[in-house]
Amino acid sequence: MKELFEGVYSDGKNIFTKNLLPGKKVYGEKLIQKNGIEYRTWNPFKSKYCAGIKNDLKKNIFFKKSIVLYLGSAEGTSVSHVSDIIGEKGIIFCVDLSNIAMQKLAKLAEERKNLFPILSDANKIENYLEFIEKNSIDILFQDISQRNQIEIFLKNSIFLKKNCFGALSLKTKSISQENAKKTLEIEKKKLEEKFEIIQIINLEPFEKEHYLIIVKKK
Ligand SMILES: C[S@@+](CC[C@H](N)C(=O)[O-])C[C@H]1O[C@@H](n2cnc3c(N)ncnc32)[C@H](O)[C@@H]1O
Repeated sequence: MKELFEGVYSDGKNIFTKNLLPGKKVYGEKLIQKNGIEYRTWNPFKSKYCAGIKNDLKKNIFFKKSIVLYLGSAEGTSVSHVSDIIGEKGIIFCVDLSNIAMQKLAKLAEERKNLFPILSDANKIENYLEFIEKNSIDILFQDISQRNQIEIFLKNSIFLKKNCFGALSLKTKSISQENAKKTLEIEKKKLEEKFEIIQIINLEPFEKEHYLIIVKKK
């Protein structure tokens, strides 16, 4: 097992994280044992960050003890792998507006103590301004397929510390029916107001017309 990035492993074919709670699966993923350590298989078809890793991510953004704001956490499929990476001393504030998804995530948070579910629309940052201080977050991650994806990300960037990293999964079809590359160019310019663009990764064949954009706050 080779460590690709801190807490992210590969056996040459699949991607894995070390299971924070050995013996427990989150979404039916395969568990494997190597040298007495249990790893959880990370599915790039179910997680855009993992798809980004498969498609040559250059700069990992998640580290042990990171404080993460994750927008569009859903029921916690990808969040659970980030939870493995940051470990029990890290924190993930998980924002999602779906009641059903949040119920599942709340159950997961009972076991994984580094998860803090917040049921809210990510457009309404005033709902969680009292839980999360401005400029206190190490990593801002977003996976929300809405027309105003970039606006949501820019709004939430007030929580991110200066010079820290973020990643945004951009679904161009949710924004416009135009050619994906053209939409990407327009949205990228908006991001550049507040961020330096580090890498843009096309997520095909795992996701159609999706890009993972890695950024650094100016
Ligand atoms: C593609 S899913 C996220 C999947 C998740 N990141 C994963 O990989 O396991 C998108 C999620 O964004 C949520 N969402 C959509 N609009 C939102 C908004 N304005 N604020 C918060 N969550 C939103 C949806 O409820 C949905 O759970």
